[in-house]
Amino acid sequence: MQTKISASVLSADLAHLADQCQLALDAGVDMLHIDVMDGHFVPNLTYGAPVLSCLHRALPDACYDVHLMIDDPDRYALDFAKAGADLITFHLEAPVDPSATIAAIRMAGCRVGISIRPATPVEKVFPYLGEVDMVLVMSVEPGFGGQAFLPETPSRLAAVRRELDRRGLTTDLQVDGGVNDDTAPLCVKAGANVLVVGSALYHAADPAALTNHLHNLTHAVCP
Ligand code: DX5
Ligand code: ZN
Repeated sequence: MQTKISASVLSADLAHLADQCQLALDAGVDMLHIDVMDGHFVPNLTYGAPVLSCLHRALPDACYDVHLMIDDPDRYALDFAKAGADLITFHLEAPVDPSATIAAIRMAGCRVGISIRPATPVEKVFPYLGEVDMVLVMSVEPGFGGQAFLPETPSRLAAVRRELDRRGLTTDLQVDGGVNDDTAPLCVKAGANVLVVGSALYHAADPAALTNHLHNLTHAVCP
């Protein structure tokens, strides 16, 4: 399975958002990961749909991977779809009916992801595996970039990938938080095929070399 890299712009210099996104695209990433936080679901605030809309106008050909860390995805998902999202991921822990939210995001014309926080048992996401395009297993507590990768993550990824395989599903499996050249191989070996990379990319001396290294590394690990 081809491994993809989604650049989390949370760690970028937000005064130059489009340039920083272009930098990631020039480095070879496959998607731009837009972390949306509402100050309720997580103790931090970031950006709303108008920011994505401007970004999409500046860089219309990029693929936008929107990660909603918010209590009310039903209220805002359509705004992000209209703003140019390609893929919208919401959290299983949000107080919604997950199947209805999945259907609403799909109706809005986007691919759908469902995410679980580190403390949520992986089995809780199993009922929705057949309904989504991607499962996102958080490898840090959502809310902030630059945190350390949680060591229990590979076994959680492996449990999801095992269940997907058992059911004959080729659903994308994304990992987000503390992914770098040390932790990425563990994730891919466990079955992740979409890596979110934030601070490791934006703090890299040579982002293109890092991206290339991660792509090559994943190919080597995952024949
Ligand atoms: C955390 C966000 C992540 C994070 C990734 O709540 O969902 O996308 O910004 O950044 P790094 O790679 O720095 O952990
Ligand atoms: Zn994220």
